[in-house]
Amino acid sequence: MTDAAPQTIYLKDYRPFAYIVDDVHLTFKLADTATRVISRTSFRPNTDFPGEFFLHGQDIKLISAKVDGVEVSPKVTSEGLTCDVPDKPFVWEAEVEISPSTNTALEGLYMSGGMYCTQCEAEGFRKITFYPDRPDVMSVFTVRVEGDYPVLLSNGNPVASGNGWAEWHDPWPKPAYLFALVAGNLVAHPSSFTTMSGKDVDLNIYVRPGSDEDKCAFGMEALKRSMKWDEDVYGREYDLDIFNIVAVDDFNMGAMENKGLNVFNSSCVLASPETSTDANFERIEAIIAHEYFHNWTGNRITCRDWFQLCLKEGLTVFRDQQYTGDQGSHAVKRIEDAITLRSRQFREDGGPLAHPVRPESFIEINNFYTITVYEKGAEIIGMLKRLVGDTEYYNALDLYFKRHDGDAATIEDWLQVFEDSTGRDLTQFKRWYSQAGTPRVTVTDDFRDGSYTLNFAQETPPTPGQDEKHAQVIPLAVGLLSENGDEVVPTTVLEMTESTQSFTFDGLATKPVPSILRDFSAPVILQRQQTSAERAFLMAHDTDPFNKWDAGDALAMDVLKQIVTKDAAPDAAYLDGVAAIMRDDSLDPAFRSLAVSQPSESEVAQALHDAGTTPDPLAIYHASEALKLAVAQHMQDILPLIMAQYTVDGPYSPDAKSAGKRSLARAALGMLTRLDGGAAAAKTFAEADNMTMQLAGLAGLRMIGKGEDQSQAFRKQWRDDRLVMDKWFGLTVSLAAPENAAQTAIMMTQEPDFDMKNPNRFRAVFGALAGNSAGFHDASGASYTLLGEWLAKLDAINPQTTARMTAAFETWPRYDADRQAKMRAALETLGATSGLSRDTGEMVGRMLG
Ligand code: ARG
Ligand code: ZN
Repeated sequence: MTDAAPQTIYLKDYRPFAYIVDDVHLTFKLADTATRVISRTSFRPNTDFPGEFFLHGQDIKLISAKVDGVEVSPKVTSEGLTCDVPDKPFVWEAEVEISPSTNTALEGLYMSGGMYCTQCEAEGFRKITFYPDRPDVMSVFTVRVEGDYPVLLSNGNPVASGNGWAEWHDPWPKPAYLFALVAGNLVAHPSSFTTMSGKDVDLNIYVRPGSDEDKCAFGMEALKRSMKWDEDVYGREYDLDIFNIVAVDDFNMGAMENKGLNVFNSSCVLASPETSTDANFERIEAIIAHEYFHNWTGNRITCRDWFQLCLKEGLTVFRDQQYTGDQGSHAVKRIEDAITLRSRQFREDGGPLAHPVRPESFIEINNFYTITVYEKGAEIIGMLKRLVGDTEYYNALDLYFKRHDGDAATIEDWLQVFEDSTGRDLTQFKRWYSQAGTPRVTVTDDFRDGSYTLNFAQETPPTPGQDEKHAQVIPLAVGLLSENGDEVVPTTVLEMTESTQSFTFDGLATKPVPSILRDFSAPVILQRQQTSAERAFLMAHDTDPFNKWDAGDALAMDVLKQIVTKDAAPDAAYLDGVAAIMRDDSLDPAFRSLAVSQPSESEVAQALHDAGTTPDPLAIYHASEALKLAVAQHMQDILPLIMAQYTVDGPYSPDAKSAGKRSLARAALGMLTRLDGGAAAAKTFAEADNMTMQLAGLAGLRMIGKGEDQSQAFRKQWRDDRLVMDKWFGLTVSLAAPENAAQTAIMMTQEPDFDMKNPNRFRAVFGALAGNSAGFHDASGASYTLLGEWLAKLDAINPQTTARMTAAFETWPRYDADRQAKMRAALETLGATSGLSRDTGEMVGRMLG
């Protein structure tokens, strides 16, 4: 290994590979510390782009190599190899040795709970064998797996198998990042699906024998719903005879869309009413859909290079969001997505890690699997759809699939499809891909002689490496209401393209109340001076459910800021407004529970910072607690009634309607718990027959500093269920009192079943610490130091998960000088760790600027 400074890769340097791969045959002879991988690959020179024969390869031992059957001695470095090859088609053969059981980075071929599995995206295949590990090199894979296991899987269709071996063939050319292999003592939960053209597809979810077998049914049904939905909505049919999903316990991310063999973090596929919450069910369904949808948006059409990651991720997230909306409520889903975007993506976009949806450089691509690439990437698709309309959108998608099937494509290709099919010029729209940062849109209005004018101005603050910003295309969905709440102008999409722009509505009898950015039509921050009376009016009357929710959210934010900065009493308009929504039985319960929730402490901190006030995390915590108490007191009389009315009787079902009722009952329980000393929460905990309500009871008790006995009982009941234990670890830390948070996290690391090698468990503890805002930012700095130390330890084992978790420190510029110094010191200490990974090094470097 050399210690050369890590290299920066640039989009502008893209060159096609000098060789074309026609097919590749792989043989795996599995052994824990000495797996042999034998490859036979057909190459031919890419005459348009001649260049050297370089194959990626990392942490693998070359045993032998041949070109056209003749032994060769390639030049091997820490990044790969070069070799003299003939100027005509030739066959490359190599045998390498790798050690799956010591692979704690969980990238390439590794072992989890006794089984072999792989994770190759983005650049993990190079840890399996020497190969052009880049997404624009696509080839047909045939794989033979040898090992003494009952289940031996790879991509594509099964060809043949015998005792201790199996062969697979994937007819669809694919890049190496979509390769997968799984072997182990596994059991299948089988089913089947008949596609729209009448082809039967075998479906399996594989798990280790034991209790997981009972947790596959929901995922299987979700898979079938997804397959049907993609046929109905996008006309996309599945294209192999078999589709396999495997659950693994040790996984850096959520799941992976390998062709015909999706590998899932077990937390993202296994579900049962007793062990999974409503939120788990919803997330599992969305991730199963997401990975399945990648079969077309990602696999059949893949990315030319990793800068184009949003081409597949933004579009696939958008598709899974549409799907989830179709399963339940579009309004509720839109609110949930907006909450995620505003609390996490806006935070990334406003800090030192801000980057464009299509970045222009990186050191480690795994650091760019971000909320910006995924969720802001999905918002761009949503804006495009809103601008061109539904019919044009689906026409463009048809053209995209037709034109680019089998391609490794770019954002330029994607936009070209829309330009060709709609005739629109998307030159300016493309800035959404290249410009980082969240646009601020300010609004003023005036009314004269029946004409109502809205004046907008847009501005995007500078982000690292981008001082100057240009005006973007912003679709502003606007409706106008009359004083009595009637809609006088229905939702209209105004297309803002200039830095300042006005739109006039004529023929109005009286000055209307505007409802702006309906359905959250663009990922921007709307800045508007509004009285609390006007916000309360929209909260009561807006016909757009998103804006009805948003008016309440904005009002709550105003109230919280007033409490923090002026020690003000909670505004009565807000309290009356939420109480009215809570009482309104005509509204969807899921909507009501979102409407009575408050902005997170982290969002309040960001809002204060944006308004020029240095946030004090502890003051925000107390303000947030005070407002929750005031809300609870204000609707005291109806809380037991709501709990009773929305308790779902009968066997548990995770469907959106039942989950919505439970979420309203849980909101009422949370409020009641602040008033009754925990009696209702204790009762809920004791009587629950499902994890949603059991955990709600426990969380309520922990939130008011009680429930020690219940916590221990819970631990005992679920000690053998690792996914439930993750919840326990997480809840214990996230609900610890601010001054005890660091100490609580330390205690969790001393539990016998704390295992830092398991990313889920590590995240349960330290993700929860970072999410306990007042606890993480405790003035002592203890949490900063603790997290920094554990990240340094984890980095030696698992760079990818470490690097992702460093983002807990990205908010340092928000805080006071003392906290800034302590956060930076933790980062500097981490950055100085000897042997620090390229992953973590890049993140620390970007955060310290
Ligand atoms: N493509 C996967 C998904 O979006 C994410 C896998 C990324 N993994 C990684 N190590 N970067 O579902
Ligand atoms: Zn994805």
